[in-house]
Amino acid sequence: MLDPAIALHADILLYPLHHDLSPDLTKLDELLVAHGKPVKALLATHYFGLAKDFTELKLWCDTHRIAFIEDCSHTLFTETFQAPGTGVLGRFVAASPYKFFACADGGLLYSPDPRPLDTVTTKSAGVIQELRGLKRTLEKYRSTGPTAADIGLIDTQLAELGTQPLVAGRELSTAYARPSPQYSAAESGTASLFGSRCIVKLSSICDNGKRRRGNYQHWADAVAELPNCHALFPDLPENSFPYMFPLHIAFPYPHFYRLKHLGVPVWRWDEMAVSDCAVAHNYRLHLLHLPCHQALTKIQMQWMITVLAKTLRLPWRSER
Ligand SMILES: Cc1ncc(COP(=O)(O)O)c(C=O)c1O
Repeated sequence: MLDPAIALHADILLYPLHHDLSPDLTKLDELLVAHGKPVKALLATHYFGLAKDFTELKLWCDTHRIAFIEDCSHTLFTETFQAPGTGVLGRFVAASPYKFFACADGGLLYSPDPRPLDTVTTKSAGVIQELRGLKRTLEKYRSTGPTAADIGLIDTQLAELGTQPLVAGRELSTAYARPSPQYSAAESGTASLFGSRCIVKLSSICDNGKRRRGNYQHWADAVAELPNCHALFPDLPENSFPYMFPLHIAFPYPHFYRLKHLGVPVWRWDEMAVSDCAVAHNYRLHLLHLPCHQALTKIQMQWMITVLAKTLRLPWRSER
């Protein structure tokens, strides 16, 4: 999210978060005073698809004449459906429908009041891009996951991994004077693929939410008694559309590495801008994002949960 601001040569201030990932308003005040210059916009996120009440933050922004932007990249937010409690306060809303549907791309810039976007135009992608998108979508549907037989192999795989030295990744810190290589200014004016928009339109929102909530609850139940971890949000609010299941682990080394080696589709915010926020610093390596999307099968969930449980029960002291 920093790339567009870097591309505009804007100053970026990073504000601290509380443990529940809500903005620290006291620290925001201090940051504004210390900066001493007017601030144009503030971005706040409904992390993991759990809607936050940003009423107070919006008032704070209004008081300081700052445009409030809601980051709905983790919420189910499309042109025609917005997860309850999201996308109503922001002057602008940024969303990533592709994170909730099996489509090849899809970013959305939205405004509850359409007037600020009146002058924004996008150009359509070409036929080649549409075909490439279709191919990527078909590949997603075709990809196979673990089977019931794989569950019986986990002990052996873990024992085997235990005999090998564990090599931790190297920490790299890069100073960006320019946007990161992931950013393409040329593509910033390109519309989502027609194919992606069709997939979003034709998918069942109700089924999507039901299956995601079911899988989220499945994770929450499975980790409740597990050692060396805790669910960041064990209780899922009603009517929410979770993006992923956030799990805090006590010992990223070795547990995160073991999970990766075993092929668990697990993510972290490894690539994070360096800031003074203690929560961001901790969550960068300790907070796992586990999938709970609608296409997961029972066997896939069972396999992931079994690998996680067996890995987190491993002794950790002897490894480093
Ligand atoms: C909180 C948050 N905001 C914004 C983004 C950017 O979304 P996109 O992948 O659509 O660029 C991400 C990416 O995962 C994110 O985690």
